[in-house]
Amino acid sequence: MAEVEHNFEEVKKNAGAFKLPANFKDYGEAGKGFKWEDHLKEVEWFGAPDLKNGSINAAYNAVDRHAKGWRANKIALYYEAADGRVEKYSYAELSALSNKFANVLHKLGIRKGDRVFIFLPRVPQVYVCFLGALKLGAIASTLFSAFGPEALRDRLANSEAKMLVTTLDLKKRVDEVRAELPALSCVMTIDKPKPVAQEGSYEDSEGQVSYEDEMASASSEFSIAKTGVNDPSFLLYTSGSTGKPKGVVHRHGGIVQQHLTSKWVLDLHDEDVYWCTADHGWVTGIAYNLLGPLSVGATCVFYDGRFDAETWYKIIEKYRVTVWYTAPTAIRMLMKSGDELARERDLSSLRHIYSVGEPLNPEAIRWGMKAFGLPFHDTWWQTEGGAMLITNFPSVPVRLGSMGLPFPGVQAGIVDDEGNELQPYKEGNLVLRPGWPAMMTSIWGDQARFDAYFKNGWYLTGDKAMRDKDGYYWFIGRADDVIKTAGERVGPFEVESALVEHPAVAEAGVIGKPDALRGEIIKAFIVLRAGFKASDELKEEISKFVKTRLSAHEYPREIEFTEKLPKTRSGKIMRRVLRAKEMGLPTGDLSTLED
Ligand code: WT7
Repeated sequence: MAEVEHNFEEVKKNAGAFKLPANFKDYGEAGKGFKWEDHLKEVEWFGAPDLKNGSINAAYNAVDRHAKGWRANKIALYYEAADGRVEKYSYAELSALSNKFANVLHKLGIRKGDRVFIFLPRVPQVYVCFLGALKLGAIASTLFSAFGPEALRDRLANSEAKMLVTTLDLKKRVDEVRAELPALSCVMTIDKPKPVAQEGSYEDSEGQVSYEDEMASASSEFSIAKTGVNDPSFLLYTSGSTGKPKGVVHRHGGIVQQHLTSKWVLDLHDEDVYWCTADHGWVTGIAYNLLGPLSVGATCVFYDGRFDAETWYKIIEKYRVTVWYTAPTAIRMLMKSGDELARERDLSSLRHIYSVGEPLNPEAIRWGMKAFGLPFHDTWWQTEGGAMLITNFPSVPVRLGSMGLPFPGVQAGIVDDEGNELQPYKEGNLVLRPGWPAMMTSIWGDQARFDAYFKNGWYLTGDKAMRDKDGYYWFIGRADDVIKTAGERVGPFEVESALVEHPAVAEAGVIGKPDALRGEIIKAFIVLRAGFKASDELKEEISKFVKTRLSAHEYPREIEFTEKLPKTRSGKIMRRVLRAKEMGLPTGDLSTLED
């Protein structure tokens, strides 16, 4: 891409990382002295600059304030489709388009607080619809495009979604469960049904509204909702070890942290070209493909192709990507493809590379040094956290294998089950003091599940970790049954529920099995109903059943038929025992096991 919207000489000049506050380590450990309030001047407020009662709108900060100033014609987004088609959007264009979409929503009867879902592949409309919904004060939510009817039903029904933006093809999966979604009053598609033989008539498009038609007649002027700092901005579903997915609610005030982390961790300067490979269906895609980098006025690359080492390197070379944020499974896949491929391309534009989502092995960092001449900086956070929490900063040397240091203003700790803080190098529960700006504000419609996150004045992350004597955190594993496969978080209960809907399955227990490439894979132990015979064909059929009903990433790659599952006397499947057996480890305390 030859255009010089970006001055790469300037990038080099700016390569010095943004400086952290001098005593930032103390801010993390003791948490004393750092005031988020001191940084509010970096984002724009509509009312009193106050993180308790002020008013702020995340979408305004992401696009509009840039569109009003000198960045109006700066590229906010380079979009590349899987077929190589390229589109560009300036900050002014993104601002006008999202204004139009906010007007469309209003015309369709969507109001402040209504849930607007985006179920789209990687297309620029994701940006337009997400930002437009926030501008109106509606609650935006995204759905991973691999979701099947069951995953869709759980989320759309739980949140009582009023509106859904999708494609004609993806809409078919929603149609299967539409009868169970009485609150869903409007389904919009970004593509139009094809005309059928008879002129003027279209193939079946019942209850469907056209994005194109609505946008064509909408005004590009919109007065942005003066949302309060605590008003919900987006809602994302994630999994726990039990129950159906939980709707994690985030607030407009979170933009303060998404902004500051984009500066101090991603180190995004004005001349940077930034590429985050995460899908918008997950929190990384929202916080670091959309809100954070846009709020600092960066230029983002949004690429809609499947993982392929050669194409990925081409993207970096073509757009002269300077800052790159990806995930350990992708890094391991690149590693597998060899560093020759990397050397064939000019990747010299890169100045920082980052990782998130699952443990980053030191081996992957070493390989990165060889292939790119740069260390991957690991970052740790969660859907519930809304923004980076423990990270390796570019201004601080990387400690191989460590998640890094708490972000200034984030107080972390390692505690035992009673909440007592543990000494350095002792393994315990990773906890945080509640109250960082991007922290979730609730679990949609479920106060009890929200309350369960907090104990002894701490927020419980569900992770096991330890801290070294210098305050660096080291990840050990999950404290619960949550599975992490290729960086994606999967609840075993959801997979078990989908499994037992198959006619051959009587009972199912699901665990994460360690895997060199994907971190973990989903493994299911299945008790068959009487009359069904175990076979490889049946395994395949069951896997496929889950894949199409639930999601293309949430199916068991491995199935084992068994006579009986280990259960507590109250009938709960003991996944801990299944896991220990699978790994040939001692099964631990079995006193609650049924006979
Ligand atoms: C869980 C949260 C928010 C980014 C995407 C994941 C695991 C996350 C790391 C890391 C080891 C990590 C934890 C965490 N995790 N980052 N750097 N090293 N583990 O968000 O899907 O909500 O998952 O992912 O177990 O609790 P998520």
